[in-house]
Amino acid sequence: MGSCVFPVFIGLVLLQIQKISECYEMEVTPDSGTIVIFSKKEGQRLDCSVCKDAGPSQTCNSVLKLTEARPTNVTFNCSQPGDIFTVEINQQIDCSTTGCSIVAVHPDSTRFLEFSRTFTWDLKVQAGRMFQLDFPSPGMRQIKPSESCPDKHTYTIITYQRAGPATIGTFCGNGTISRIQVLYRGRVTLEVPKGTDLNPSNFKVSMGPAATALVEVDVKLSRGPSSADFFTPNYPTGYYNLEKIKWNFVVQPMNNFTVYFRQYTAPECQKNTVMCDYTLGDKTSITKAPTDIQPTNKQGDFSLTLTNCDARKGEIVPGLSLNFNVEVFRSGTPYVCTVDLRNEEGLSLQIENKNPESYCEMSLNSEIQEKIVVPAGTKADLSFLDCPVQDLQLTATKVIDCPSVSARDVSGTLLTIPALDSSLPVPLHQFTWLLRVQDQGTVDLMSPKGSLHQSVPDKQCNERVLLVISETDGSNIGLFCSAAEGAVQKIQIKGNVSITVTPNNTKDLSQEKEPFLKVSTSPEITENVIYTVIPLILGPMYLATPNWPDGMNSSSSVSWIIYVHQEYTAELMFSNIVNPTCDSGHTEVTVGPLDSQVQTQTWREDQSFPSPIIQQQSFYLNMSNCEPKSGRFAVLSKISLQKESKKFLGIILAVFGVLLLLIIIALIVVCVIRKRKNKSNANRSSIFIPRGKNVLPGNATFPKSRADNESHVYASIDDSTMYGHLDKNQPAEVDSGAWSNGHQVDGYRPFTGPTDSIPAAADSSAEYSLDRREGDVFQPFLNPATTFNLPRPRTPLISQGSLRFEDRRMMDNTLNTFKGAGDINPIRLSADESRLQLQMDSDSDSYPEPEYEDAM
Ligand SMILES: *[C@@H]1O[C@H](CO)[C@@H](O)[C@H](O)[C@H]1NC(C)=O
Ligand SMILES: *[C@@H]1O[C@H](CO)[C@@H](O)[C@H](O)[C@H]1NC(C)=O
Ligand SMILES: *[C@@H]1O[C@H](CO)[C@@H](O)[C@H](O)[C@H]1NC(C)=O
Ligand SMILES: *[C@@H]1O[C@H](CO)[C@@H](O)[C@H](O)[C@H]1NC(C)=O
Ligand SMILES: *[C@@H]1O[C@H](CO)[C@@H](O)[C@H](O)[C@H]1NC(C)=O
Ligand SMILES: *[C@@H]1O[C@H](CO)[C@@H](O)[C@H](O)[C@H]1NC(C)=O
Ligand SMILES: *[C@@H]1O[C@H](CO)[C@@H](O)[C@H](O)[C@H]1NC(C)=O
Ligand SMILES: *[C@@H]1O[C@H](CO)[C@@H](O)[C@H](O)[C@H]1NC(C)=O
Repeated sequence: MGSCVFPVFIGLVLLQIQKISECYEMEVTPDSGTIVIFSKKEGQRLDCSVCKDAGPSQTCNSVLKLTEARPTNVTFNCSQPGDIFTVEINQQIDCSTTGCSIVAVHPDSTRFLEFSRTFTWDLKVQAGRMFQLDFPSPGMRQIKPSESCPDKHTYTIITYQRAGPATIGTFCGNGTISRIQVLYRGRVTLEVPKGTDLNPSNFKVSMGPAATALVEVDVKLSRGPSSADFFTPNYPTGYYNLEKIKWNFVVQPMNNFTVYFRQYTAPECQKNTVMCDYTLGDKTSITKAPTDIQPTNKQGDFSLTLTNCDARKGEIVPGLSLNFNVEVFRSGTPYVCTVDLRNEEGLSLQIENKNPESYCEMSLNSEIQEKIVVPAGTKADLSFLDCPVQDLQLTATKVIDCPSVSARDVSGTLLTIPALDSSLPVPLHQFTWLLRVQDQGTVDLMSPKGSLHQSVPDKQCNERVLLVISETDGSNIGLFCSAAEGAVQKIQIKGNVSITVTPNNTKDLSQEKEPFLKVSTSPEITENVIYTVIPLILGPMYLATPNWPDGMNSSSSVSWIIYVHQEYTAELMFSNIVNPTCDSGHTEVTVGPLDSQVQTQTWREDQSFPSPIIQQQSFYLNMSNCEPKSGRFAVLSKISLQKESKKFLGIILAVFGVLLLLIIIALIVVCVIRKRKNKSNANRSSIFIPRGKNVLPGNATFPKSRADNESHVYASIDDSTMYGHLDKNQPAEVDSGAWSNGHQVDGYRPFTGPTDSIPAAADSSAEYSLDRREGDVFQPFLNPATTFNLPRPRTPLISQGSLRFEDRRMMDNTLNTFKGAGDINPIRLSADESRLQLQMDSDSDSYPEPEYEDAM
């Protein structure tokens, strides 16, 4: 191929149009290398001429040919010259001397719109070579010369041979022909009627290979079912020369083809015969006579060479003419199945083909579909043709109308993937439940396996399936999994909820038979989402705001109720905070103990957050977003637990040591006094007298081993118990024996911290019917309103400098008594509170109790 490129454009023609009464004038500048010809239509009788220039040099005629690339004034002495004249824009492309490379033929013009336009390209290559036309995709479609193209752009290819011109064919755009090669010389014509904008197929011209045939046509057959027509030159008159015409067909995989000769007129052969030579994809050749049955139901690419005989020519003698047709159809047989959703309420299915390259053909009730949707409550016949299972994605959606809150089902509904039709050839890729609640209800989600874990980058879900929980308005809450060591006991979401199960370490969700979640409903909540959380003892846990790491919805709120076991303190850190600029309102992060309204701490988006925050008891963490002007509100918090006792053990031992020393000194002093008093009667100790056994203080010894069991140090002892004997209004003989549980108590310390609302204290008060002093600064009773929040005895709050420790055995003791006493707490529950209690009762079932026991 040569290297010279002709930058040839047709139709960049400057026009200036003036209508002067019965005249029509325009200025025309032909592009260089193009010729513009106005010519009167054949048979047009109207009296109108086309004139060049003005004044004395003016020449008028029925044809005007402009060859020079300079502006020329063209006038017509009629007002509608488009009715009488056509315009031809001609370009000569000669590759015979230069061996031209690819030339983009690009008639870029909407000019001469009032004329019928004919664009012609005269092409010439070296003798013995072919010129090659490449059409952009989609290619060209051959039509009968009598037909017309839907877009009114009709292409004709003519070849000039020694025997005279022959029409190769008439073509429209939007077809399967990608390339046409023609021997030696020819002309391509594009005809566009007047008033039609030019929208050409920008074919490329180049010098083709040495000639093998008069014409060679390359066809890329489309996927089946499809059909394409082809015609021999000079159809239907026929051609006479001993020439070859060759068609090369590309057939898509998964398709079979069949060739049909629709119309064949045999020439009168003087020499040789007409032959059809096929070369199939596997290089096998078949030769057929035109009257034979042509290849049927074959696969692969193929080519057909039609060879004419040396035919007799004459006016009334027909030449060779053939119209054949290639039909393409799918080679495979479809897989057919039936899906019946009439028995599974609210369940609908969707099947999608994820591979656009595949030859998959899906149909629903015999209609071919890109995406199959089987609506709920229907039965459908599906068919799959050449669909690799791995390309298909089956998703199922089940709509569940939750029972209304008033008629709520306390036991809850278990979300289990229903068994799908086993004949369905597609693995289940995704299952979604749409939970709809009425009257602004709340959906409560719990794991039937125990707890849920929220997947965050630092602690991802490793389970087989993942649960994407969203509000149905589209806002995502988070990614969760049912996990044995999860921290989330319950998620409450206001309004409708969607839960999507996607596989993580599994392929087919329909194999998952276990329930994923337990759903129940409860009355409307104030926040959008409330989590009930028991942090893990092993390792930290993360709390992410809804939609994390993206922002929470504007003006939405989230709350975590975090239960901290008494033996632990919780360390809350905001490990990742993204704050918005608020348009109205402020973001708010609030932390406070569950049973106290006093010690809440709140931060806004314009304040800096402390880290860490230590919480010694169960607490809540609430966050709410403002209406952001810019930015987003997203917080990732981290909670880790620390075993509290260890921290204080050292101090407690130190204190014990000091106390022991003091007691020894006291004993020595007592001994000295006793000696002085000459062995007078034993003085009763004022220290502590257990109820069970009367122990004479004189016998009181404190073996070293006592240091191990620490039962002599109390974290919170009812004040009246401790100080009762000192109080003048109280009898010294209080029933304090039970407190020591049969052990000797060797001392007590002032207790300065606020006594926590330990049920133990309340119980002991009930069981031992201690007198209570009104107006006591201590409030050893539990705040009734919060009692039911605390299903377990809890760690008292430590304030600065107060030291305390709880006897494990005493804990057990009080727990037992707590459980035993049916009427200890005469607490009146408001409607709201009773709900909370109900929830808590159910929660307490899911406490990972053994963990706590082990950890102690
Ligand atoms: C246009 O011009 C030609 C030649 O000048 C003349 O023969 C013809 O009558 C004219 N037609 C009209 C409609 O004026
Ligand atoms: C064409 O006619 C216009 C006036 O109608 C004139 O200005 C212009 O110069 C003419 N162009 C030529 C090339 O004669
Ligand atoms: C192309 O042809 C096919 C059928 O042959 C038709 O469905 C499609 O609409 C056509 N596209 C254009 C752009 O004409
Ligand atoms: C397609 O062709 C192959 C091989 O020629 C054949 O086995 C298959 O049955 C054909 N398919 C159809 C649908 O006829
Ligand atoms: C899915 O499981 C793999 C372990 O096979 C784990 O590494 C990955 O983080 C899990 N994906 C998600 C999104 O949690
Ligand atoms: C929450 O955000 C999502 C996505 O950003 C949006 O589609 C939805 O409408 C929002 N919901 C509300 C209640 O603003
Ligand atoms: C839940 O969705 C149903 C149906 O789409 C709707 O009628 C109902 O109001 C929604 N409930 C809430 C709380 O938005
Ligand atoms: C925090 O959220 C809980 C649960 O919704 C709620 O009971 C409590 O009143 C909230 N506290 C504050 C200070 O907003």
